[in-house]
Amino acid sequence: MAVQWREHLLQGTSTGQDRKPGRGRGQQGPPMRPHLLKAPPSLPIPTLETELPSRENLWGTYTTQSPSSRTLLTMWEPGAGCERREVQECLQQFQVTRAQLQQIQAGLLDSMEQALRGQANPAPAVRMLPTYVGSTPHGTEQGDFLVLELGATGASLRVLWVTLTGVDGHRVEPRSQEFVIPQEVMLGTGQQLFDFAACCLSEFLDAHPVGNQGLQLGFSFSFPCHQTGLARSTLISWTKGFRCSGVEGQDVVQLLRDAIQRRGASNIDVIAVVNDTVGTMMGCEPGVRPCEVGLVVDTGTNACYMEEARHVAALDEDRGRVCVSVEWGSFGDDGALGPLLTAFDHALDLESLNPHAQRFEKMVGGLYLGELVRLVLSHLAQRGVLFGGSSSPALQSQGSILPEDVAAMEDPSVGAAHVLTILQGLGLSPEVSDVELVRSVCAAVSTRAARLCAAALAAVLARLQRSREQQMLQVTVATGGRVFEWHRRFHSILQETVALLVPECDVSFIPSVDGGGRGVAVVTAVAARLAAHRRLLEETLMPFRLNCEQLAGVQAQMREAMAKGLRGEASSLRMLPTYVRATPDGSERGDFLALDLGGTNFRVLLVRVTEGGVQITNQVYSVPEHVAQGSGQQLFDHIVDCIVDFQRAQGLSGQSLPLGFTFSFPCKQLGLDQGILLNWTKGFNALDCEGRDVVCLLREAIRRRQAVELNVVAIVNDTVGTMMSCGYEDPRCEMGLIVGTGTNACYMEELRNVAGVAGDSGQMCINMEWGAFGDDGSLGSLSTCFDDSVDQASINPGKQRFEKMISGMYLGEIVRHILLHLTSLGVLFRGQQTQRLQTRDIFKTKFLSDIESDSLALRQVRAILEDLGLPVTSDDALMVLEVCQAVSRRAAQLCGAGVAAVVEKIRENRGLEELTVSVGVDGTLYKLHPHFSSLVAATVRQLAPRCTVTFLESEDGSGKGAALVTAVACRLAQTTRV
Ligand code: G6P
Ligand code: BGC
Ligand code: BGC
Repeated sequence: MAVQWREHLLQGTSTGQDRKPGRGRGQQGPPMRPHLLKAPPSLPIPTLETELPSRENLWGTYTTQSPSSRTLLTMWEPGAGCERREVQECLQQFQVTRAQLQQIQAGLLDSMEQALRGQANPAPAVRMLPTYVGSTPHGTEQGDFLVLELGATGASLRVLWVTLTGVDGHRVEPRSQEFVIPQEVMLGTGQQLFDFAACCLSEFLDAHPVGNQGLQLGFSFSFPCHQTGLARSTLISWTKGFRCSGVEGQDVVQLLRDAIQRRGASNIDVIAVVNDTVGTMMGCEPGVRPCEVGLVVDTGTNACYMEEARHVAALDEDRGRVCVSVEWGSFGDDGALGPLLTAFDHALDLESLNPHAQRFEKMVGGLYLGELVRLVLSHLAQRGVLFGGSSSPALQSQGSILPEDVAAMEDPSVGAAHVLTILQGLGLSPEVSDVELVRSVCAAVSTRAARLCAAALAAVLARLQRSREQQMLQVTVATGGRVFEWHRRFHSILQETVALLVPECDVSFIPSVDGGGRGVAVVTAVAARLAAHRRLLEETLMPFRLNCEQLAGVQAQMREAMAKGLRGEASSLRMLPTYVRATPDGSERGDFLALDLGGTNFRVLLVRVTEGGVQITNQVYSVPEHVAQGSGQQLFDHIVDCIVDFQRAQGLSGQSLPLGFTFSFPCKQLGLDQGILLNWTKGFNALDCEGRDVVCLLREAIRRRQAVELNVVAIVNDTVGTMMSCGYEDPRCEMGLIVGTGTNACYMEELRNVAGVAGDSGQMCINMEWGAFGDDGSLGSLSTCFDDSVDQASINPGKQRFEKMISGMYLGEIVRHILLHLTSLGVLFRGQQTQRLQTRDIFKTKFLSDIESDSLALRQVRAILEDLGLPVTSDDALMVLEVCQAVSRRAAQLCGAGVAAVVEKIRENRGLEELTVSVGVDGTLYKLHPHFSSLVAATVRQLAPRCTVTFLESEDGSGKGAALVTAVACRLAQTTRV
């Protein structure tokens, strides 16, 4: 049927060469701005029949309520019966009943909700594309912006210079220039189109000197696009007469930037991309109530509105609102409009550049109104009803009737003479009697368009009402597009029909400002603010981003400091001998007690080493801050009390088991069971302990308590305990690494390299105490002002500088200081400092692990920050995430540089080309952070390519290792001294 019609309609078409997808005749002349027609005199607005009109009642759609009103029927009274029937049949097809409109409304609402839910199968008829606009304008946006409009007004491109004053109601007229896009460009390559756009920009800037410095551009690109950022947007498909190759699937912002670059206009920065509907909505002056819907009917048609973010499945956000572009032009592409489509619609569709697509748009958009009228007139001419039965080449040529012609011919205030002139312009010889019929055809086509548009808008309003959960919705709709300007009746019919379809909505309509240009500038202003914030964020984080050279420098400095420390020369690395000379060989047996002090938890353990393996029973005890920072006596009494409690609970009272003491602080050991505390770290500061033998302090406390008998055999650093514990499973384990509250490493060094310990053969485990690396100022160039603040506020300023850049006790604090700084710059939290953020240690390192977790959506990041009492937007949450990433990444890389230095030293010690070695690792940061361990490994691979390093996570903590050291000591004591 459709094909038949098409052939029929095309009869007499001359060559078809005149096909003009764009503005038709308008293309030949200078670019046209919409010329405003005078408002027509009060023509009765047709009301809708609720019943389906009878076939005889051709004018059902146009019957007025008042018998005295003139109806369109009386405007033209056809003569002969068969002509009348011909016209009736033809125009009846353009009729839509209220029931049909309600069906469209319901169908579109359904599709919209399917798309919002992210339904994939079957694909919803509309796309519901989220934009990156999250709030309606505040009216405070300010600045000068370039706006480039492509696609909103068919074959023309506009460049505007918009000034936002930041003051409500104070407007500065924009400067603008319009350019006609040649048809060969609209159908050419993407590069041609974007080069043309860049050329128009240059011409505009030549004609309107606006200064040369950093011009910020908002790009209004009005085609269906997937946006992934304020300035990232991938074209899904062309619509409305455009078909440039190589653009679909591409980021149009990048294409424009490339073209601007090719033109050498490096002073223009494209910072936002916006659909015309969004520009229309955002351009509204903030009124009594915010404008939350943008409706465009120009060459194409579409609407956008503010949806609750939690309803948009495609978004990783559940708070606030987001502007969604409905892209309703494609409604009906699945056949839903079937019964409404006329033979003319089918013919138009098949001749279009995008057959079977944008079916709804092709019934409403201005690009198609003239074409539909042309097809009907041509048909009627052919049937002998019009123009004395003759046609003309122009009437047979696509695009020869423009939407503004339709508006003019339909307007009863425009005299018949003007209609005749338009028709004569088409090469026709119209009779005066033809005028009224032509008017009726125009009215039928445009009335249907207005009603369909109203049904679609009604669906959007119903959706808005549902998502706001409001019985009575008060809403403002911004309207844009030349069809509104040309067709006053279009607007009134739309308004009346909307009122009929959604009576519970109180809708006011406001025309857009500067054809949406202002709105684009508003979005661009917001984007500019965000871009400025991003620059400040980047500047702030730059010193945390270490390159390979810097990391290799750290590795080299570490090697140097290790060598000096081993030689007993002044060095920030103490390289402390531990008197552990061998890893377990598996023959150790017995029951041992172990203490584990210095990490997150203080633990007492019972370790049973049997032929079948190692069994551990342990109990965690707290060390309150007032004890950790009280007197030494208090601290060691507390430790003994915990041991007594543990022994009692385990039925061990009275037994004197050999005890290994994991004591995770720097100690100068003189033997396995002697360790002089050099200095406290990690928040411990008990008085009168530094410089004293920790084993003595423990024995004194035991004596004071007189409750237990303990045989302290070994004092062990946690790194050593970890190495021993992992060494029990893997003999290749020759290094221990801790990245927890603090950080440190130990490894097996050749005894000949260790000054101060007798003997030249064999090996000894060296506790590097690398937390203090850089305390001589050697890390100065890497240390940021935030590191300095954290250091200064700590209980040991100037000490443990490497540890303070890496370990869990400090990373949260570094992040907190950066957040404070960014807030003071206005980049975060709207510049509002909160009391919470000023509180020391409020930002735990655990938050870094949580926030950086890949499985966490941005909304959960927000929730974490809000739980902290921080007033976050999504942009804030994203920035906080980036801060965390920069800080933890640097920590992991520094740690990796340290490991690389150690494994390379082991390799060189042994004179090996290649080394295969395992590292036993423990610590909450290393274990809980989602990316720390892989970043450490990657850095080691990069800096120590000749070493194959396996990281073994310790399962049982270093207490087990301390027991094993004790076991080895007991075994060796039976033969020789350890
Ligand atoms: C091990 C030990 C602790 C050690 C800790 C480091 O498992 O048993 O004594 O200090 O790891 O981790 P943390 O994160 O607790 O400081
Ligand atoms: C496009 C929309 C645009 C509308 C109005 C349609 O063809 O797909 O993105 O908003 O025209 O210009
Ligand atoms: C201590 C080390 C310990 C490390 C990890 C540092 O503060 O000085 O002895 O190994 O923390 O717990």
